[in-house]
Amino acid sequence: MPKFAFLGAGNMASAMVDGLLAKGTVTPPDLICLGGSGQSAATLAARTGIRLATSIEELTGATDVLVIAFKPQQLAGANPQLATLTAGKLVISVLAGKRLARLATTFPAARNLVWAMPNTPARIGAGMTAWCSRTPLSAADRATVDALLAALGNAVEVDEGLMDVAAAVSASGPAFLFEFAAALRDGGIAGGLPPETAKTLAVETVLGAARLLARSGTDPEELRRQVTSPKGMTLAGLQRMEARDFRGLMKETILAAKARSEEMAKDAP
Ligand SMILES: NC(=O)c1ccc[n+]([C@@H]2O[C@H](COP(=O)([O-])OP(=O)(O)OC[C@H]3O[C@@H](n4cnc5c(N)ncnc54)[C@H](OP(=O)(O)O)[C@@H]3O)[C@@H](O)[C@H]2O)c1
Repeated sequence: MPKFAFLGAGNMASAMVDGLLAKGTVTPPDLICLGGSGQSAATLAARTGIRLATSIEELTGATDVLVIAFKPQQLAGANPQLATLTAGKLVISVLAGKRLARLATTFPAARNLVWAMPNTPARIGAGMTAWCSRTPLSAADRATVDALLAALGNAVEVDEGLMDVAAAVSASGPAFLFEFAAALRDGGIAGGLPPETAKTLAVETVLGAARLLARSGTDPEELRRQVTSPKGMTLAGLQRMEARDFRGLMKETILAAKARSEEMAKDAP
């Protein structure tokens, strides 16, 4: 199994490292990281036992698979040495919005480029990643990408033109679900539940409903129908959601995230 080098060691890189180690895909010495001027890389290395690079040369020299995991806004100021240091290597970017053609200007001699958008449930192996590549992957590189993404959870290859909306659903999606869980909890508190009880009820309900939905293979509408009796309490709640156009709000939410991803394609703040 190839080793992976992480340039950027913040939340996303840390979730990926945790997923790889938890799945046993690699061991800590197989991974190496480097951050910017802050402490994230040292913190990640200390917490997980992975190697901490002291220079960009050490990082890129350690493996031929480089994961780029700094902020999209940091691409324009990336170390110009990366152009030569990534020659012949497989570069996997997780930067929101940054198209493969843009990545190719920073990594012009990479043997191939992958744009992947994982999500933070990768930390517990329950991630969902949408990805695409600049040119069709060789069998060996496909095996590497499959192994990396399988360690994080599920993955789906999509056309590059669909990456912005796919990322809005699956990369930003956990934040929307966390917001929903918070709202469910707060609704319980508003109805008189103690906060801790409300939190437990909300979290376990989101978890159980998501697992049932994934396992049943049926549409969410069908599962909703099964818990909605005529004149029942669930119907009373659903009617309020409909009156406030919950679906319309979620559609706007996804389209706003997609639009921001499209904006981030440009090298602007
Ligand atoms: N969070 C998500 O759910 C998610 C999902 C999909 C994709 N992404 C993508 O993941 C990327 C990272 O997001 P994040 O949430 O992990 O951000 P983050 O926690 O802020 O981490 C940013 C990392 O970049 C490093 N860095 C800063 N300047 C650098 C430079 N010049 N060279 C190399 N590394 C540098 C930072 O190191 P220092 O600490 O040393 O400054 C830090 O390790 C973003 O591009 C984002 O679009 C995130």
